[in-house]
Amino acid sequence: MEAVLGLLVISARLYHGLETSCDAREDGSQCYGALGGTVYLQLVTDATRYELSFWKGSTGAKTEILKMKKDKLVIRNPLIIDRVHFFINNGTLRINNIRRNDSGEYLLETFSSNGRMWTREIQLFIKAPVSSPQLSSECLSHGEVRVSCYSEGDGPQYSWTLDGQTLRDTETFPGDETNTITLKKGLSGDLTCTIRNNISSDTVSRRISHCPEHSVEISSWAGTGFNVFVYFQLAEVFILLTICVGSYCFYKKKTYPQEQDDVE
Ligand SMILES: *[C@@H]1O[C@H](CO)[C@@H](O)[C@H](O)[C@H]1NC(C)=O
Ligand SMILES: *[C@@H]1O[C@H](CO)[C@@H](O)[C@H](O)[C@H]1NC(C)=O
Ligand SMILES: *[C@@H]1O[C@H](CO)[C@@H](O)[C@H](O)[C@H]1NC(C)=O
Repeated sequence: MEAVLGLLVISARLYHGLETSCDAREDGSQCYGALGGTVYLQLVTDATRYELSFWKGSTGAKTEILKMKKDKLVIRNPLIIDRVHFFINNGTLRINNIRRNDSGEYLLETFSSNGRMWTREIQLFIKAPVSSPQLSSECLSHGEVRVSCYSEGDGPQYSWTLDGQTLRDTETFPGDETNTITLKKGLSGDLTCTIRNNISSDTVSRRISHCPEHSVEISSWAGTGFNVFVYFQLAEVFILLTICVGSYCFYKKKTYPQEQDDVE
């Protein structure tokens, strides 16, 4: 039995989590769902043609999730009943609010009026989506720049570009880890880190400029320009303080002689 990678479409990133859909109409389909999200599994093209039975688990210990008989749907498993919906018109099963333990093997059996027709196995993998990545950079002593990219999520894979071009071996050092690279001296441009797993991807970009030799400077930033915001706030506070102190001095200068006159 050859495993067939199911067609995966990342359809939307909603507030409630990612939606993924998978064509599971071939035996051995591999499908991916996002933790906390929704997955659509197309099990058959037209469910009105068969009697269906869908199980969690394959051989041995398995629990029936749903059964369809003569266009009548019976969802059996009380653990999952409020999270699944079956669209009879296009043979698609929707599972909401996906949990870790929804991952594993599933089994679909179809029956005709004279007995069992075929069975099919489906693998469902549940992954946490990658979170918005962060970059940090550090100037090394000989003018190289070490840049690291971080994200949470299951099985992230990292890739890098400089000014839209994949980094070449001549621009980095061998033995770099995939989420940390060291750029050779004198390189500059827009550096982009892309993080991807089987259900989601995200990127972060940053302008990299020359590092001075023989100095160590550490900076870090988030994809959202957090630091710029903080500097802006600090500048605002400084301006307000200047105005306050300035007007206080001005007021003192103007009123002090008057007070003296009054006393006299
Ligand atoms: C099946 O139908 C439902 C409801 O109309 C829809 O949300 C879903 O995307 C459809 N799936 C496919 C594979 O056409
Ligand atoms: C799956 O995990 C949830 C909590 O995330 C738990 O409530 C539920 O009982 C578990 N189901 C099974 C079949 O272990
Ligand atoms: C997705 O999963 C397949 C195995 O099913 C793996 O070979 C592939 O590298 C994964 N892709 C990503 C981006 O993680």
